[in-house]
Amino acid sequence: MSVKPLRECGPAARIAVIAGDGIGKEVTPESVKAIRSAITSARRQIEFVEFDWGADKFLREGVSLPAGAVEMLANEFDAILFGALGDPRVPSNQHAADILLGLRFKLDLFVNARPVELFHDRLTPLRDRSANDIRFMVFRENTEGLYVGVGGFFKKDTPDEIAVQEDVNSRKGVERIIRHAFDYARRNQLKRVCMSDKSNAMNFAHDLWQRVFKQVLQEYPEIESRHLYIDTLAMEVVRDPRQFDVIVTCNLFGDIISDLGAQLAGGLGLAPSGNIHPGRTSLFEPVHGSAPNIAGKGIANPLGSILTSGMMLDFLGWKSEGDALRNAVRSALQENFVTPDLGGDKGTVEVGDWIAKRVGDR
Ligand code: NAD
Ligand code: IPM
Ligand code: MN
Repeated sequence: MSVKPLRECGPAARIAVIAGDGIGKEVTPESVKAIRSAITSARRQIEFVEFDWGADKFLREGVSLPAGAVEMLANEFDAILFGALGDPRVPSNQHAADILLGLRFKLDLFVNARPVELFHDRLTPLRDRSANDIRFMVFRENTEGLYVGVGGFFKKDTPDEIAVQEDVNSRKGVERIIRHAFDYARRNQLKRVCMSDKSNAMNFAHDLWQRVFKQVLQEYPEIESRHLYIDTLAMEVVRDPRQFDVIVTCNLFGDIISDLGAQLAGGLGLAPSGNIHPGRTSLFEPVHGSAPNIAGKGIANPLGSILTSGMMLDFLGWKSEGDALRNAVRSALQENFVTPDLGGDKGTVEVGDWIAKRVGDR
């Protein structure tokens, strides 16, 4: 799926690398290796600067997102390559909320782009579906909704306890993600945009989504606009994924539907994403988390992170280098040079080395 450059950064780029926790620390170096291999043959220059933000630092120093970090990233870097955050030693997940949600909100990365693309027929759990049948983009609103952390407890730890979590939706926030979905469809000659909400039950927040959607779609008469409730969307995406080109939805539903989509295309080990504000410093991360159940074993699949790096290179305007990463991933899948989650017996570093070599040989 082609993505037009959202930031043109010339022959040099500065990338902040936040590997994070668990398998984030294992897959991100493989991604960096693949990028280095893609750019050496292409007269590009890239500088990587690593940041050790994550559970270890949080537990050691009590620091999650350091003071001044947001301004520094926005002013000094073109993009951020991110691994994953989450550690069983931090059950509150506080550091992840501060760092990951903090960067999404404070850098105003309102587009969470999560492409679902089947790279090899054997990878889908759906019967009789092939690569042409499973190719759509999920745009998840990324700066508001149920994620804003507005709420509280009343009578905490008593039998009468009440917990409130507010769903915050602004007209501006809803409109810009819906408009982004339509613009993306138009730019890429895609015919269909499906907006998904739960307006039959969420009669304020998602009423706003309904009204904004109906208003914005008027400006895109050549695009087939459709609405599905989120429960129906979850069912339809499995029944017949060929119906979808572009899906746009709120923060929480986008989180869920993108994991579902990831599984249709081979699993979380393969799914990339971009947290984007067009034209500004943006953050790229695989859809998966820190996977504590396999962390430290050297078997995490690095391909999701490598495809994520492909999205980042597209964002920087380096489309042919992005294609080089995607083609190498396609070859690894074709030749079954893969980690155990995809049925193979290779390790994270073995796959990363293979990709870097393939990219370098092109
Ligand atoms: P997870 O994505 O970490 O893992 C879910 C399942 O998928 C596990 O069985 C895991 O082994 C497998 N898996 C994920 N990525 C894989 C890969 N690259 N290769 C092979 N297998 C892979 O989700 P979870 O277990 O629900 O969450 C674990 C922690 O990660 C939690 O703390 C959660 O909050 C956090 N998390 C962080 C992010 C992020 O940083 N963007 C995303 C999701 C979850
Ligand atoms: C994701 C993750 C995060 C989210 C968590 C770690 C807060 O699941 O990036 O998909 O829900 O956005
Ligand atoms: Mn998620």
